[in-house]
Amino acid sequence: MNQIKRGVLALCMLASGGVFAAEITIDTAKPGAVINKDVYGQFAEHLGTGIYEGIWVGPKSKIPNTKGWRNDVVGALKEIQVPLVRWPGGCFADEYHWRDGIGPREKRPVKVNTNWGGVDESNAVGTHEFFDLVDLLGADAYVNGNLGTGSAQEMSEWVEYMTSDSKSTLANLRRKNGRDKPFKVAYFAVGNEAWGCGGNMSPQYYSDLYKQVETFLRAPKQYRPKIIASGGNDNDLTWSDVLSKELKKQTEGISFHYYTIPTGKWEGKGASTGFQENEWISTVSNTLRMESHIQKNSAVMDKHDPEKKLGLFVDEWGTWYDVEKGTNPGFLFQQNTLRDAVVAALNFNIFHAHAERVRMTNIAQMVNVLQAMIITDKDKMLLTPTYYAYQMYVPFQGATSLPITLKDNPDYSAAGFKVPEISASAARTKDGKVYLALVNTNPNKPADVAVNIPGQSVKSVKGRVLTAAAMDAHNTFAAPQAIKPAAFSANAGADGKLSIKVPAKAVIVVAVE
Ligand code: AHR
Repeated sequence: MNQIKRGVLALCMLASGGVFAAEITIDTAKPGAVINKDVYGQFAEHLGTGIYEGIWVGPKSKIPNTKGWRNDVVGALKEIQVPLVRWPGGCFADEYHWRDGIGPREKRPVKVNTNWGGVDESNAVGTHEFFDLVDLLGADAYVNGNLGTGSAQEMSEWVEYMTSDSKSTLANLRRKNGRDKPFKVAYFAVGNEAWGCGGNMSPQYYSDLYKQVETFLRAPKQYRPKIIASGGNDNDLTWSDVLSKELKKQTEGISFHYYTIPTGKWEGKGASTGFQENEWISTVSNTLRMESHIQKNSAVMDKHDPEKKLGLFVDEWGTWYDVEKGTNPGFLFQQNTLRDAVVAALNFNIFHAHAERVRMTNIAQMVNVLQAMIITDKDKMLLTPTYYAYQMYVPFQGATSLPITLKDNPDYSAAGFKVPEISASAARTKDGKVYLALVNTNPNKPADVAVNIPGQSVKSVKGRVLTAAAMDAHNTFAAPQAIKPAAFSANAGADGKLSIKVPAKAVIVVAVE
């Protein structure tokens, strides 16, 4: 169909009040890269109530807990199969000294969390407690080292403390503190946001420091973490460029940070709830920039690493709004609505399409901070729409991405923004099932999406849908189940063709039969 005909068809559809009809083709014959489970990683920083109160209550708390970690939150996180947790920061990491967080808790020094609200940091959660958490979750550990105020020696000794199976003094100190066997550290990062809170460095200066540090990060082969270089953010490509050139022999990959801000401005970011359609679509449009950020960073890395040996690790991403009224501005606490679930799903679909390069991401952050999975208030907790997006996408962890083509995908336009109405992703799980994820970004109109798999008749789809009447539908402690996924299915018609009616502002994940 040429563009004019398509335009005429679209106008006729609108005039008749009908829905647009897009067509998706899943090419199962040309499987792409495996979607690393770590793409679904989480980030837990010593920030606000992200750890203290949110997950850690201490072993003596009346809130039911295991080794100090609250059972309700851990139980809920297990259901979304959290594969990886990044800790202890963020900006906090570059002022964190690991020795403050080992040994008897009552003897640990109290520090000031200068980055986040100037509150006391008790150091009650340290290395051993963090590994208790990842053990409880069945997740891997991503530990972020301190380059900003630390040293090569301090990082080298932390890695030795965690991973050495020798009888060295540091390994024996770990044993004395209750852990005989080495901890498994999946990833270790050298600093965080070195261009900003991590030390205001240039990429060249950071590269030199990284080389020095990496040289001394010694661990037994089977316990050696993948070492990550801290990269750039937003539109700045210089970090990916310099780091992939300078560090390609000494790193697993380079991190990248991008936050979705409705207004695009750090001063006056926009509210988490009560927003109008202009900030719905600006949020969708801004989050879709993740696609070009990944494309551009990956292209720059291709110059020095055409075989894509290095990963691009988006180890901070998600929505960032103005904090909720009356809360500590340094705690970054925000509500979480259907819009956040749509943002999460759009980003998942982008990450899947770049599975070859993007092998790990960490949403910011797991509990009570920024785009959280869970919000707590004393002994209560609620699950956010973002939590449900993660839950619905579980089948994509470790699945093989499948190429898709989307024909006749209309644009959704409002307030001077234009975005594609449908975003989609498909993958084949290890047991051979094909899963399809669809997002309708249009908050006003459903869309019909025909599903084709060449060489196969698609008989039915079955799974779940997340949608609501309001753009800012969210859960509160008064109404904790206001928004949650519902069962969804569709069958082929008499003509043997299957079409999915995707509701307005919705996320759908289905198994295709
Ligand atoms: O996620 C909150 C903060 O955002 C992190 O500490 C920092 O790395 C980023 O700027």
